[in-house]
Amino acid sequence: MPHALSNQAINRAKANMNHIYAEADPRAYFRELETVDYAIPDRAKPVFRALIGHLAESRGTPVHALDLGCSYGINAAILKHDLSMADLYRRYTDPALDDASSEEMIAADRAYFDGLPDAAPAEVIGLDPAEPAVAYAEQAGLIEQGLALNLEEEPLPDAAAAAMAPVDLVMSTGCVGYVGATSFDRLMPAVGEGDAPWLANFVLRMFPFDPIAETLEAHGYVTEKLDGARFVQRRFMSEEEQAGVVEKLEAQGVDPAGVETEGDLVAEFYLSRPCAEADRPVADLVAS
Ligand SMILES: C[S@@+](CC[C@H](N)C(=O)[O-])C[C@H]1O[C@@H](n2cnc3c(N)ncnc32)[C@H](O)[C@@H]1O
Repeated sequence: MPHALSNQAINRAKANMNHIYAEADPRAYFRELETVDYAIPDRAKPVFRALIGHLAESRGTPVHALDLGCSYGINAAILKHDLSMADLYRRYTDPALDDASSEEMIAADRAYFDGLPDAAPAEVIGLDPAEPAVAYAEQAGLIEQGLALNLEEEPLPDAAAAAMAPVDLVMSTGCVGYVGATSFDRLMPAVGEGDAPWLANFVLRMFPFDPIAETLEAHGYVTEKLDGARFVQRRFMSEEEQAGVVEKLEAQGVDPAGVETEGDLVAEFYLSRPCAEADRPVADLVAS
């Protein structure tokens, strides 16, 4: 019989990566994640770009995006500067940079990103509890504002709430599971102060999205999953991780055969929009 599991219980099956989330620069993050081909920001890029395009058309530019679980500003780098994960892996695993201090990395990155053309009409606020990562993203010029907050554990402070009012798009990769319905419930009144944003979440199949969708429904939103689309997030770190995740999927009635059993952690895409703006099917939106 399928049964509900808490995100904490599901997370226990996943390799713990906390040690790379809060460094003063992204080198350890990319060194470690390259070993498992972490790729979800690349896979998300065309979807986010399409949504930014639609929002730019309907609301004007710049589109204000909030990257939940922004880490070192990776989605911002990829979207704003038309980079790929391969570009970032190359940069951050370059042996020539092994001896650079974090201050030197930040200065070099600032110059590098400032020198690249703007590829998307977007400004990004980044939110993540990992204060050093958020500080890096801000200092490297990838995000316009960083908020080192954990909305699972604390309400949104007033100053942060004020900064959220212009948000048109809330996006996330690799973050749901760390965040659940509580964070969204705390976020929605603030982001809804201006034009109500769209929420675009890439979510590993082992984390149920229903509790978040129900919370968003109470805020006047409808959620649609992009049917039939699967996005590889990364390879499993070990057979033990794979076995644990397969077990959690089966316990929840999700069939891992041919997907996670093949060796990859796989995400799906959910778009949540205010009811009045949800007429066009997601597949249609992201295809254009
Ligand atoms: C797998 S990383 C994904 C980072 C980035 N979005 C990417 O795809 O490369 C997960 C991120 O979620 C962050 N995180 C953990 N707990 C969180 C919370 N309560 N709220 C927001 N982000 C959280 C971690 O600090 C980490 O930066």
